[in-house]
Amino acid sequence: MPAVGIVIGDGNREYPGKLTLYVTMTCIVAAMGGLIFGYDIGISGGVTTMDSFQKEFFPSVYEKQKNDQESSKYCKFDSIPLTLFTSSLYLAALCSCVVASYVTREFGRKLSMLLGGVLFCAGALLNGFATAVWMLIVGRLLLGFGIGFTNQSVPLYLSEMAPYKYRGALNIGFQLSITIGILVASVLNFFFSKIPGGWGWRLSLGGAVVPALIITVGSLILPDTPNSMIERGRFKQAETKLRKIRGVDDVEDEMNDLIAASEASKLVEHPWRNLLQRKYRPHLTMAILIPSFQQLTGINVIMFYAPVLFQTIGFANDAALMSAVVTGLVNVGATVVSIYGVDKWGRRFLFLEGGLQMLISQVAVAAAIGAKFGVDGNPGVLPKWYAIVVVLFICIYVAAFAWSWGPLGWLVPSEIFPLEIRSAAQSVTVSMNMIFTFIIAQVFLMMLCHMKFGLFIFFAFFVALMSVFIYVFLPETRGVPIEEMNQVWRSHWYWSRFVEGDENGRVEMGKVH
Ligand code: BGC
Repeated sequence: MPAVGIVIGDGNREYPGKLTLYVTMTCIVAAMGGLIFGYDIGISGGVTTMDSFQKEFFPSVYEKQKNDQESSKYCKFDSIPLTLFTSSLYLAALCSCVVASYVTREFGRKLSMLLGGVLFCAGALLNGFATAVWMLIVGRLLLGFGIGFTNQSVPLYLSEMAPYKYRGALNIGFQLSITIGILVASVLNFFFSKIPGGWGWRLSLGGAVVPALIITVGSLILPDTPNSMIERGRFKQAETKLRKIRGVDDVEDEMNDLIAASEASKLVEHPWRNLLQRKYRPHLTMAILIPSFQQLTGINVIMFYAPVLFQTIGFANDAALMSAVVTGLVNVGATVVSIYGVDKWGRRFLFLEGGLQMLISQVAVAAAIGAKFGVDGNPGVLPKWYAIVVVLFICIYVAAFAWSWGPLGWLVPSEIFPLEIRSAAQSVTVSMNMIFTFIIAQVFLMMLCHMKFGLFIFFAFFVALMSVFIYVFLPETRGVPIEEMNQVWRSHWYWSRFVEGDENGRVEMGKVH
């Protein structure tokens, strides 16, 4: 992914420009891409707990759940086709990343968004009208291909459109729209599950068509980014567009920087080989570990399977879906906290505070479930206060994730890569995220069945590990201009040995003037 739009000058000068109504509206429409992603994350868990859906597509799970009161509750949803339904989407997203990155670079961000939207619509329709498991899975694959395109192009589009001063907040704005999508999906699941006749799941799955249409139509009316125009040699057009976006006439400095950045990135012939050079070891390490760790927090266990999990611990169907709505609300609220705090308190503080809070709540959830369910998974009658305590700790956990690893898992990689490796490193980040999302989605129900409440300890262990990693290895990046970023590695006790730089602490290609 060419990320020339993230280049922000030499750190000493400011580009004139305002947060115009035009750019705000444009970004809101583009952020709809995040909404679709979130809708998908949130919809599958609720749908898979609906009786009518299970009866139609996964009858063995339904039978097991209804008739088999004897066996362990930890295992009642353990079914490979059921998990494949959820996880197939991430595999597809992973595969389409490569094509999407090419289309985004060669044909512009708009076309990539359009393709994403169209694939999405197709997937949503196939799912909504599904009469066989294969239609469900193919539909999920189409949705996944769509996500590959929109997740590649939308964040890039936002970064390129946003005035640089608002870039951090806008970056997390994409995450915010993901969380809103998750919330909307949980609320809809709650209501659609009540529709008499049990066909509400069709509306839940088919409902993805609405945000998909918004991004499809949006991509047709959205303007192209100046960066994208420059990359394709349309300089005059780009300048006019930049004036309109920024709401000022004096855009010369920014224009020159964009042209220089575009030229510099064209000079790089082997971004992948570059990435393997010794001086990029800290960047490569972060590109691999940050997204992997983000998924190893276990967040998607809650996002995908909250209703399943709540049913497992004995909630009625309704209460389980309602609890998913509550965690969804917490997720949105805490993301707003992150937007507010990320440039004030810094990334390290949020990472470490969030890590500690997640650790404590995971141990508490494990203890609460372990105490009642033991290892045989048969708790008897559960008191109401018990359920409330479990949901409370899950909310504390979700809040911690939503102001730390959630947004920062995307923000930090995007701001530490120097221009010459940004494209390749960003693809590594996206792919690692999708691979780990797939693995967690695929093995969670099996892990719950075998590791029982110990599953929460498993994730707690990783949260402890990643917090130590952040403490020891991640330098603070708050308030550091992107081209000056090499300095933070040069003054780091460990990474300094890998990184060279000139006397200003910049990497050669990062200087675009
Ligand atoms: C993660 C998703 C997760 C979502 C939850 C994102 O940052 O990448 O996997 O489901 O946050 O809000």
